[in-house]
Amino acid sequence: MLTKDTVMNVLAGIEDPELKKPLTELDMVKSITIEGSDVTVEINLTTPDCPMKAKIREDITAGVSAIDGVTSVRVKFDAMSDEELERLKQKLGHGRRPETDQPPKLTYAKRFIAVASGKGGVGKSTITANIAVAMARLGRKVGVLDADLYGFSLPRMLGVDGQPTVIDDKIIPLRKGDNIQIVSMGFFINEDEPVVWRGPLLHKAIKQFLADVMWDELDYLFMDLPPGTGDVTITIAQTVPSAELLVVTTPQATATHVAGRVAKVADKTNLTVVGVIENMAYFEVNGQREYIFGKDGGKDLARRLNVPLLGEIPLATAIREGADIGKPVASEGTEDQISLFENIARRLDQRDQR
Ligand SMILES: Nc1ncnc2c1ncn2[C@@H]1O[C@H](COP(=O)(O)OP(=O)(O)O)[C@@H](O)[C@H]1O
Ligand SMILES: [Mg+2]
Repeated sequence: MLTKDTVMNVLAGIEDPELKKPLTELDMVKSITIEGSDVTVEINLTTPDCPMKAKIREDITAGVSAIDGVTSVRVKFDAMSDEELERLKQKLGHGRRPETDQPPKLTYAKRFIAVASGKGGVGKSTITANIAVAMARLGRKVGVLDADLYGFSLPRMLGVDGQPTVIDDKIIPLRKGDNIQIVSMGFFINEDEPVVWRGPLLHKAIKQFLADVMWDELDYLFMDLPPGTGDVTITIAQTVPSAELLVVTTPQATATHVAGRVAKVADKTNLTVVGVIENMAYFEVNGQREYIFGKDGGKDLARRLNVPLLGEIPLATAIREGADIGKPVASEGTEDQISLFENIARRLDQRDQR
């Protein structure tokens, strides 16, 4: 028998393409009308010019026409009222916060890991992208926040591009596969446009990326910080006091110098340093390792900070190429490259600081 319930059951199996949850669970089904064998479904969109309209229509038409006894399916669209939107956001755990001076405690991720370096060009973004991918391969839900607002590079490195939908005042992150979500300033501005951030604006942008993005429930939020140890680290420490710092260095960036600065910032901000990764550790030719940028800088830094050295990544063309074309070696590389990053992800996963 064709009833509203049978139609509802089918709709329960259809997801909103962006929010990745069933239409029924999102209260997006406004009405179902059945006249003989003709079914009309009315869908309440989160925003009237939803770019995913066509996909939703297609999925509903395919699903509902497969029900026994249905000969035609019509899909109509309406948009949610402000109250309906607010209810949806509450339901997704991103409702409006009560007005207080206290910054809200961010609970959508189990661990917040800020990736930091003493200087630029050491491969911090490359490492962030690869660890995020490795973590996702371990089945963890991972968010990637590109907090390098001037030099954003994660969209390119992860091979994710597009314009995120903004529902009301909340950004829906873009996705890479099932387990990675990403937000970057690169989605909002043109890569060739110079960006000038003044202090307070920078602070505000980072806070917004932390608080006003509809992240799923995450195991990890990785934050790719701008080079150096400045303002952004302090903003993050204020917004997420439980954040951990993962330090990326080359062997050359002299341990004493960087260690001193990172340790100072970690100390000042009360952030925990979770470990050190040495990048560009060596270059392999004919099975021989050449230590182009010196040796053991990462090990020294880790010792000084009294934290583990979580991995040593070689200088390799494939790593650079993978980053350039959005195919990180941690998932698209050789078995050795995959396990290199998988081992780091595992070590990080075992060092649960909660
Ligand atoms: N292990 C590596 N082997 C080869 N090239 C690398 C490696 N790590 C980073 N790179 C390259 O070095 C450049 C700087 O890396 P990037 O991740 O942008 O550094 P940062 O974020 O620290 O400024 C990029 O072109 C990147 O592809
Ligand atoms: Mg970078």
